[in-house]
Amino acid sequence: MHDQMNAPHLLISTLIFLSLTYACKPAADTNQATDANITDSTYYEQHRPQFHFSPPEKWMNDPNGMVYYEGEYHLFYQYYPDSTVWGPMHWGHAVSTDLVHWAHLPIALYPDSLGYIFSGSAVVDWNNTSGFGRDGQPPLIAIYTYHDPEGEKQSRIDYQHQAIAYSTDKGRTWTKYEKNPVIPNPGNLRDFRDPKVFWDEGSAQWVMTLAAYDHIRLYGSKDLKSWKHLSDWGLSYGEHDGVWECPDLFQMTVEGTNEKKWVLIQNLNPGAPNGGSGTQYFIGDFDGKKFSLDPALEPWVKNGKALWLDSGRDNYAGVTWSDVPASDGRRIFMGWMGNWQYAQQVPTNGWRSAMTLPCELSLKQTSNGHRLFMNPVSELNKLRTATKQIQSTDIEGIVDMTKQINLSPSQMEIKFEFEWDRNTPADFGIQLSNSKGELYRVGYHTGAKQFYSDRTKAGDHSFSEKFAARVHTASYETSKTTISFRVFFDVASSELFADDGAFVMTDIFFPGEDFNQIGVFANQGKVKISGGEAHGIKRIW
Ligand code: FRU
Repeated sequence: MHDQMNAPHLLISTLIFLSLTYACKPAADTNQATDANITDSTYYEQHRPQFHFSPPEKWMNDPNGMVYYEGEYHLFYQYYPDSTVWGPMHWGHAVSTDLVHWAHLPIALYPDSLGYIFSGSAVVDWNNTSGFGRDGQPPLIAIYTYHDPEGEKQSRIDYQHQAIAYSTDKGRTWTKYEKNPVIPNPGNLRDFRDPKVFWDEGSAQWVMTLAAYDHIRLYGSKDLKSWKHLSDWGLSYGEHDGVWECPDLFQMTVEGTNEKKWVLIQNLNPGAPNGGSGTQYFIGDFDGKKFSLDPALEPWVKNGKALWLDSGRDNYAGVTWSDVPASDGRRIFMGWMGNWQYAQQVPTNGWRSAMTLPCELSLKQTSNGHRLFMNPVSELNKLRTATKQIQSTDIEGIVDMTKQINLSPSQMEIKFEFEWDRNTPADFGIQLSNSKGELYRVGYHTGAKQFYSDRTKAGDHSFSEKFAARVHTASYETSKTTISFRVFFDVASSELFADDGAFVMTDIFFPGEDFNQIGVFANQGKVKISGGEAHGIKRIW
């Protein structure tokens, strides 16, 4: 069950020594972005994404502490600055004014005598409920898990606790609360982590969702320091073939109505439909104490069934930004573009992993009930270089579009609609290839009613037999005979947003040379494309 934790934790005994070296190391006192280790060739390495966030060097996993404050989107992340595999966790830190370009800042939180700094969230304490504010300015509060490697080594089970730290200088430096932990392990919960906190207007308190192996626990607090257990949820819902991690609970308005619903994002590892890590979600209500599932959703999420935010294999541990101003009103999500099944083995040099694109979530009423939709934030549009129109074309076999589009397919956004004949099953999609004969395909099969992503021939997969053992598939039904594909390719990744964001599929790959040919294919059926556009995308570094 603990697929993910096993691999990293094998390392733990050797790494404990290292972690002690970090204990109590102070955060650097600087306002400056830190580019000390960035050389001219950084961000030009093989497989390095050009318009996704990735750390300058070393190991990264989950996004953490995403909060917006005074014009800056903060992105903290699980970081091990000494190696390209998982180790004693720190919070790395970057900021952005537009969600697209990032400035690296010094490490925000170092491991200390209470343990490694695992995943968590951050909020603006607008009313200074914590008392950590200064000079009338609200503090930023980070809420995170301490993972005590000593306790783990002694085979205890109570080695994960929740703690807080505060910043009064726009997140540049952080002070850990001297009375940490604020929620000690109750004694019997080995997996007790990843606090995500929000201010709940309805009950006038801070509410925390916390992952506890096979369910979430909700806690409430008036001051972020003293917490009361409110309720538990999830035992009989969703997928349980793994550990529940990184939850997120927030309210959304159903698009085009005044109806408000609560969305619960619940990451799971392993147990995703195509193997390893994945992100399920639930929709319901929250009364200040308890989350309750929308009864209409029961058939979709009862007895091991789940709704997935992304049906690909490389979108994990994602949660949403706190404190995005009401005048903006978006619910913005970002995940880690990785999967614990192989993330530590992917063939990159000097750095490992990237985040997904920042995406806007929306909640819509569909014929199956409420569903989450996901689309890249519009700020990404400003990275577009040239725009090329794609002609309406009948597709039979493979139609090479490389010349027509005349932009690098390895850094591209492409969008068009496929149309098929209702009476003829069709199988179609987009493909990338290169002169080494490597091929990536993402497509839809109308007969099987399935999307698929095929990276089995897309380059190096020798590093893990779990990476490309088979084509990844996901069911998707539509009553129409058209479907829109919007895909972002960035050197080593493909993110498909189909049917206006109703279906998302993110997969990474490692071609031996950049993909430089792009085509559209129809293996069967009468298929046509229309309404197409392709954009080159500028690098962000
Ligand atoms: C999810 C996760 C979290 C944990 C962190 C450790 O990927 O396992 O549950 O806090 O990573 O790095």
